[in-house]
Amino acid sequence: MSLEVTENEFVCILGPSGCGKSTVLNILSGLEPASSGEVTIHRPHRANQPTIGYIFQEPRLLPWLRAEDNIKFVVDQLQLPQKDANFRIGQSLESVGLLKFARAYPHELSGGMQQRVAIARALAVDPHILLMDEPFSSLDEITARGMRKLLLDLWEQQKKTIVFVTHNMFEAAYLSDRILLMTRHPGTIYKSITTGLPRPREYEDPKIFAVSTNIARDFLREIGYESETETDRDS
Ligand SMILES: Nc1ncnc2c1ncn2[C@@H]1O[C@H](COP(=O)(O)OP(=O)(O)OP(=O)(O)O)[C@@H](O)[C@H]1O
Ligand SMILES: [Mg+2]
Repeated sequence: MSLEVTENEFVCILGPSGCGKSTVLNILSGLEPASSGEVTIHRPHRANQPTIGYIFQEPRLLPWLRAEDNIKFVVDQLQLPQKDANFRIGQSLESVGLLKFARAYPHELSGGMQQRVAIARALAVDPHILLMDEPFSSLDEITARGMRKLLLDLWEQQKKTIVFVTHNMFEAAYLSDRILLMTRHPGTIYKSITTGLPRPREYEDPKIFAVSTNIARDFLREIGYESETETDRDS
Protein backbone atom coordinates (compact mmCIF):
# COMPACT_ATOMS: atom_id res chain seq x y z
CA MET A 1 0.00 0.00 0.00
CA SER A 2 1.00 3.59 -0.52
CA LEU A 3 -0.33 6.58 1.35
CA GLU A 4 0.62 10.14 2.09
CA VAL A 5 -0.78 12.14 4.99
CA THR A 6 -0.45 15.92 5.05
CA GLU A 7 0.43 17.85 8.18
CA ASN A 8 -2.67 18.55 10.32
CA GLU A 9 -4.80 16.21 8.25
CA PHE A 10 -7.30 13.87 9.89
CA VAL A 11 -7.30 10.59 7.96
CA CYS A 12 -9.37 7.52 8.73
CA ILE A 13 -8.43 4.03 7.58
CA LEU A 14 -11.51 1.88 7.26
CA GLY A 15 -11.44 -1.81 6.57
CA PRO A 16 -12.85 -5.20 7.56
CA SER A 17 -11.47 -7.20 10.47
CA GLY A 18 -8.11 -8.79 9.77
CA CYS A 19 -7.24 -6.71 6.69
CA GLY A 20 -4.09 -5.30 8.30
CA LYS A 21 -5.16 -1.93 9.80
CA SER A 22 -3.29 -2.41 13.09
CA THR A 23 -0.31 -3.68 11.13
CA VAL A 24 -0.22 -0.40 9.18
CA LEU A 25 -0.18 1.64 12.41
CA ASN A 26 2.48 -0.63 13.91
CA ILE A 27 4.65 -0.03 10.87
CA LEU A 28 4.01 3.75 10.90
CA SER A 29 4.94 3.89 14.59
CA GLY A 30 8.07 1.82 14.09
CA LEU A 31 6.88 -0.95 16.43
CA GLU A 32 6.88 -3.46 13.60
CA PRO A 33 9.38 -3.46 10.74
CA ALA A 34 8.00 -3.34 7.20
CA SER A 35 8.99 -6.41 5.20
CA SER A 36 9.45 -4.07 2.24
CA GLY A 37 9.05 -0.39 1.45
CA GLU A 38 9.63 2.56 3.72
CA VAL A 39 7.99 5.17 5.95
CA THR A 40 9.09 8.81 5.93
CA ILE A 41 7.97 11.08 8.76
CA HIS A 42 8.66 14.81 8.99
CA ARG A 43 10.04 16.07 12.26
CA PRO A 44 7.87 18.19 14.56
CA HIS A 45 8.36 21.97 14.66
CA ARG A 46 8.53 22.33 18.40
CA ALA A 47 11.59 21.10 20.21
CA ASN A 48 10.84 18.48 22.86
CA GLN A 49 7.46 17.60 21.38
CA PRO A 50 7.31 13.84 20.86
CA THR A 51 6.73 12.86 17.24
CA ILE A 52 4.24 10.03 17.67
CA GLY A 53 1.56 9.10 20.17
CA TYR A 54 -0.12 5.71 19.72
CA ILE A 55 -3.46 4.71 21.18
CA PHE A 56 -3.69 0.95 20.83
CA GLN A 57 -6.72 -1.18 20.17
CA GLU A 58 -6.53 -2.35 23.82
CA PRO A 59 -5.65 -0.09 26.79
CA ARG A 60 -2.21 -1.65 27.49
CA LEU A 61 -1.90 0.01 30.91
CA LEU A 62 0.75 -1.10 33.37
CA PRO A 63 -1.33 -3.10 35.87
CA TRP A 64 0.88 -2.31 38.87
CA LEU A 65 0.54 1.46 38.44
CA ARG A 66 -2.41 3.67 39.37
CA ALA A 67 -4.17 5.54 36.52
CA GLU A 68 -2.26 8.77 37.23
CA ASP A 69 1.05 6.92 37.46
CA ASN A 70 0.44 5.21 34.14
CA ILE A 71 0.26 8.70 32.65
CA LYS A 72 3.16 9.99 34.73
CA PHE A 73 5.27 7.13 33.39
CA VAL A 74 5.15 8.59 29.86
CA VAL A 75 5.02 12.28 30.86
CA ASP A 76 8.24 11.81 32.86
CA GLN A 77 10.09 11.07 29.60
CA LEU A 78 9.51 14.73 28.63
CA GLN A 79 11.47 15.95 31.68
CA LEU A 80 9.12 18.85 32.35
CA PRO A 81 9.20 20.83 35.60
CA GLN A 82 7.21 18.86 38.21
CA LYS A 83 4.42 21.46 38.32
CA ASP A 84 3.86 21.32 34.55
CA ALA A 85 3.97 17.54 34.56
CA ASN A 86 1.33 17.34 37.31
CA PHE A 87 -0.83 19.85 35.48
CA ARG A 88 -0.72 17.78 32.31
CA ILE A 89 -1.59 14.58 34.13
CA GLY A 90 -4.57 16.21 35.89
CA GLN A 91 -5.75 17.94 32.73
CA SER A 92 -5.58 14.81 30.61
CA LEU A 93 -7.52 12.75 33.19
CA GLU A 94 -10.11 15.51 33.46
CA SER A 95 -10.55 15.64 29.68
CA VAL A 96 -11.57 11.97 29.64
CA GLY A 97 -13.78 12.41 32.72
CA LEU A 98 -11.67 10.33 35.09
CA LEU A 99 -10.14 12.79 37.52
CA LYS A 100 -11.98 11.05 40.37
CA PHE A 101 -10.34 7.77 39.43
CA ALA A 102 -6.77 9.10 39.29
CA ARG A 103 -5.68 6.82 42.12
CA ALA A 104 -7.44 3.69 40.91
CA TYR A 105 -5.50 0.71 39.60
CA PRO A 106 -6.39 -0.60 36.12
CA HIS A 107 -8.14 -3.71 37.52
CA GLU A 108 -10.45 -1.41 39.51
CA LEU A 109 -11.63 0.26 36.29
CA SER A 110 -14.03 -1.00 33.62
CA GLY A 111 -12.68 -1.79 30.13
CA GLY A 112 -14.02 1.51 28.77
CA MET A 113 -12.49 3.46 31.66
CA GLN A 114 -9.13 1.78 31.09
CA GLN A 115 -9.31 2.78 27.45
CA ARG A 116 -10.01 6.37 28.49
CA VAL A 117 -6.91 6.33 30.71
CA ALA A 118 -4.95 5.10 27.68
CA ILE A 119 -6.35 8.00 25.64
CA ALA A 120 -5.41 10.46 28.42
CA ARG A 121 -1.90 8.97 28.46
CA ALA A 122 -1.44 9.70 24.74
CA LEU A 123 -2.94 13.20 24.97
CA ALA A 124 -0.78 14.11 27.99
CA VAL A 125 2.45 13.99 25.98
CA ASP A 126 0.93 16.19 23.24
CA PRO A 127 2.48 14.37 20.26
CA HIS A 128 2.81 15.85 16.79
CA ILE A 129 1.22 12.80 15.17
CA LEU A 130 -1.50 10.68 16.77
CA LEU A 131 -2.04 7.10 15.65
CA MET A 132 -5.33 5.74 16.93
CA ASP A 133 -6.46 2.14 16.57
CA GLU A 134 -10.22 1.77 17.05
CA PRO A 135 -9.84 3.76 20.28
CA PHE A 136 -13.55 4.15 20.94
CA SER A 137 -14.90 0.78 19.86
CA SER A 138 -14.85 -0.60 23.41
CA LEU A 139 -16.75 2.39 24.84
CA ASP A 140 -20.51 2.66 25.21
CA GLU A 141 -22.04 4.84 22.49
CA ILE A 142 -22.72 7.86 24.73
CA THR A 143 -19.16 7.92 26.04
CA ALA A 144 -17.82 7.28 22.54
CA ARG A 145 -19.72 10.31 21.24
CA GLY A 146 -18.24 12.46 23.98
CA MET A 147 -14.75 11.20 23.18
CA ARG A 148 -15.15 11.80 19.43
CA LYS A 149 -16.23 15.36 20.14
CA LEU A 150 -13.32 15.84 22.53
CA LEU A 151 -10.92 14.54 19.88
CA LEU A 152 -12.27 16.95 17.25
CA ASP A 153 -12.05 19.91 19.66
CA LEU A 154 -8.51 18.96 20.53
CA TRP A 155 -7.53 18.51 16.90
CA GLU A 156 -9.02 21.90 16.02
CA GLN A 157 -7.17 23.64 18.87
CA GLN A 158 -3.84 21.87 18.69
CA LYS A 159 -3.72 20.96 15.01
CA LYS A 160 -2.32 17.48 15.06
CA THR A 161 -1.89 15.00 12.26
CA ILE A 162 -4.16 12.06 13.01
CA VAL A 163 -4.30 8.61 11.45
CA PHE A 164 -7.36 6.91 12.88
CA VAL A 165 -8.27 3.29 12.26
CA THR A 166 -11.87 2.18 12.53
CA HIS A 167 -14.44 -0.15 11.06
CA ASN A 168 -17.23 2.27 12.00
CA MET A 169 -18.31 4.12 8.85
CA PHE A 170 -20.26 6.81 10.65
CA GLU A 171 -17.32 7.50 12.94
CA ALA A 172 -15.02 7.85 9.93
CA ALA A 173 -17.42 10.26 8.20
CA TYR A 174 -17.95 12.31 11.36
CA LEU A 175 -14.27 12.69 12.20
CA SER A 176 -12.07 12.80 9.15
CA ASP A 177 -11.13 14.85 6.12
CA ARG A 178 -10.27 11.80 4.09
CA ILE A 179 -11.24 8.14 4.36
CA LEU A 180 -9.10 5.34 2.98
CA LEU A 181 -11.00 2.14 2.25
CA MET A 182 -9.18 -1.18 2.50
CA THR A 183 -9.92 -4.55 0.93
CA ARG A 184 -9.88 -7.78 2.87
CA HIS A 185 -6.69 -9.49 4.00
CA PRO A 186 -4.08 -9.01 2.66
CA GLY A 187 -5.40 -5.46 2.62
CA THR A 188 -4.67 -2.76 0.12
CA ILE A 189 -6.21 0.70 -0.14
CA TYR A 190 -8.73 0.53 -2.95
CA LYS A 191 -10.29 3.97 -2.60
CA SER A 192 -9.64 7.37 -1.04
CA ILE A 193 -12.68 9.53 -0.28
CA THR A 194 -12.34 13.21 0.56
CA THR A 195 -15.56 13.94 2.42
CA GLY A 196 -15.54 17.74 2.04
CA LEU A 197 -17.96 17.96 4.96
CA PRO A 198 -17.99 21.37 6.68
CA ARG A 199 -16.73 21.82 10.25
CA PRO A 200 -17.68 22.06 13.05
CA ARG A 201 -19.68 18.87 12.60
CA GLU A 202 -22.92 17.93 14.24
CA TYR A 203 -23.96 14.37 14.96
CA GLU A 204 -27.39 14.87 13.49
CA ASP A 205 -26.11 16.25 10.19
CA PRO A 206 -27.73 14.15 7.44
CA LYS A 207 -24.71 14.77 5.20
CA ILE A 208 -22.59 12.68 7.57
CA PHE A 209 -25.15 9.87 7.38
CA ALA A 210 -25.13 10.16 3.61
CA VAL A 211 -21.34 9.77 3.45
CA SER A 212 -21.41 6.75 5.76
CA THR A 213 -24.23 5.12 3.81
CA ASN A 214 -22.32 5.59 0.56
CA ILE A 215 -19.24 3.99 2.11
CA ALA A 216 -21.31 1.02 3.28
CA ARG A 217 -22.62 0.55 -0.28
CA ASP A 218 -19.13 0.85 -1.69
CA PHE A 219 -17.81 -1.78 0.71
CA LEU A 220 -20.60 -4.18 -0.14
CA ARG A 221 -19.88 -3.79 -3.82
CA GLU A 222 -16.14 -4.17 -3.37
CA ILE A 223 -15.78 -6.84 -0.70
CA GLY A 224 -19.26 -8.21 0.04
CA TYR A 225 -20.42 -9.77 3.30
CA GLU A 226 -18.02 -11.88 5.32
CA SER A 227 -20.30 -14.92 4.93
CA GLU A 228 -20.21 -14.78 1.14
CA THR A 229 -17.95 -17.27 -0.55
CA GLU A 230 -15.37 -16.22 -3.12
CA THR A 231 -17.56 -17.70 -5.86
CA ASP A 232 -20.58 -15.64 -4.71
CA ARG A 233 -18.51 -12.54 -5.05
CA ASP A 234 -17.07 -13.45 -8.44
CA SER A 235 -20.45 -14.10 -9.98
N1 LIG B 1 0.87 -7.50 4.46
C1 LIG B 1 0.52 -8.61 5.14
N2 LIG B 1 0.76 -9.81 4.63
C2 LIG B 1 0.42 -10.93 5.29
N3 LIG B 1 -0.17 -10.91 6.50
C3 LIG B 1 -0.44 -9.76 7.06
C4 LIG B 1 -0.12 -8.53 6.42
N4 LIG B 1 -0.54 -7.52 7.21
C5 LIG B 1 -1.10 -8.10 8.28
N5 LIG B 1 -1.03 -9.41 8.22
C6 LIG B 1 -1.60 -10.35 9.19
O1 LIG B 1 -3.00 -10.24 9.09
C7 LIG B 1 -3.61 -10.38 10.36
C8 LIG B 1 -4.49 -9.21 10.69
O2 LIG B 1 -3.75 -8.03 10.82
P1 LIG B 1 -4.22 -6.82 11.73
O3 LIG B 1 -4.19 -7.16 13.16
O4 LIG B 1 -3.36 -5.67 11.31
O5 LIG B 1 -5.73 -6.61 11.25
P2 LIG B 1 -6.81 -5.48 11.59
O6 LIG B 1 -7.26 -4.91 10.30
O7 LIG B 1 -6.23 -4.53 12.58
O8 LIG B 1 -8.00 -6.32 12.21
P3 LIG B 1 -9.08 -5.92 13.35
O9 LIG B 1 -10.05 -4.97 12.72
O10 LIG B 1 -9.72 -7.23 13.70
O11 LIG B 1 -8.32 -5.30 14.50
C9 LIG B 1 -2.47 -10.56 11.35
O12 LIG B 1 -2.32 -11.94 11.58
C10 LIG B 1 -1.26 -9.99 10.61
O13 LIG B 1 -0.06 -10.54 11.05
MG1 LIG C 1 -6.70 -4.18 14.54
